[in-house]
Amino acid sequence: MDVFRPNLFEGKVLFCTGGGSGICKVITQTMMKLGAHATIIGRNAERLEAAAKELSDASGKTCFALSGDVRKPADLDAAAKKTVEKFGKIDFVICGAAGNFLAPISGLSVNAFKTVIEIDTLGTYNTIKATLPYVRASKGSYIHISATLHYRGTPYQAHVSAAKAAVDALSKVLAVEEGPHGIRSNVIAPGPIGGTEGMDRLSRKRPDGTSDNGEQYIPLGRMGTKEDIANAAVWLFSDAASFVTGQVIVVDGASEDVRPLTLPYPESVLNPEKMREMIRARM
Ligand SMILES: NC(=O)c1ccc[n+]([C@@H]2O[C@H](COP(=O)([O-])OP(=O)(O)OC[C@H]3O[C@@H](n4cnc5c(N)ncnc54)[C@H](OP(=O)(O)O)[C@@H]3O)[C@@H](O)[C@H]2O)c1
Repeated sequence: MDVFRPNLFEGKVLFCTGGGSGICKVITQTMMKLGAHATIIGRNAERLEAAAKELSDASGKTCFALSGDVRKPADLDAAAKKTVEKFGKIDFVICGAAGNFLAPISGLSVNAFKTVIEIDTLGTYNTIKATLPYVRASKGSYIHISATLHYRGTPYQAHVSAAKAAVDALSKVLAVEEGPHGIRSNVIAPGPIGGTEGMDRLSRKRPDGTSDNGEQYIPLGRMGTKEDIANAAVWLFSDAASFVTGQVIVVDGASEDVRPLTLPYPESVLNPEKMREMIRARM
């Protein structure tokens, strides 16, 4: 989608955890296409290097791959320092690294729960702590990639729900504490996003091997794309959102607003006359 000014982020520097794959890679790609340099952080050095090369080659900008674990504050301190040594500053931070799998509380080990809290919540905290002095200096902006799972009791997702609720809370406090220093902090909460490892792992498999992602319950009739999330991030980082902070921007095609219905969906809203007949027949 070419609705943004091509040099919108010329001279800006992005620091992105989880940028070696999935949604955060496409956010980085989009920011670089609009002129930014970037550092991407993840544990898998080989995948990270390949992603950095691909992103640099495609944009003509520099993508710096720094392997590290967001659970380790020293890794992030070193990555932030190296980013500033290379690019001179950090303007934008994306806290996107996360882990997920399906497990009910009854089958979830203490260690498994702890690991997701450590990656998602502590990882976000560690990223904020490591980058804050630099983001203060540039009067920059944070985006935390959360989820919508914790708005309800989503089965098999206690660990991620708890972790992402804490991420939302951290962002709000950051917005209030750092607003007077000129920093903004917002959350993007993606709904189901197609073509991601996350959705592949979590979606229901049909007998023929294809995935059932429940698209029929998404009012816009499709899964989200990684580009949908990237476009929201571009807007939030741009000056067009200069008075937007402390917010959670849900990008989910209104899937969170659909409740299990007694009437068939979306047929009931597409053909009200037929529905009226059905309802009358039931009375
Ligand atoms: N996919 C969806 O539909 C969806 C929906 C709602 C929210 N989200 C959120 O969107 C974000 C991206 O998700 P995705 O589906 O695109 O997943 P993904 O491709 O699996 O991305 C996760 C990234 O986090 C990195 N990571 C994981 N643990 C790490 C650690 N300890 N230290 C450093 N990096 C680590 C991974 O790299 P390494 O393995 O190399 O470390 C990977 O690049 C996540 O925050 C996720 O919760 C996704």
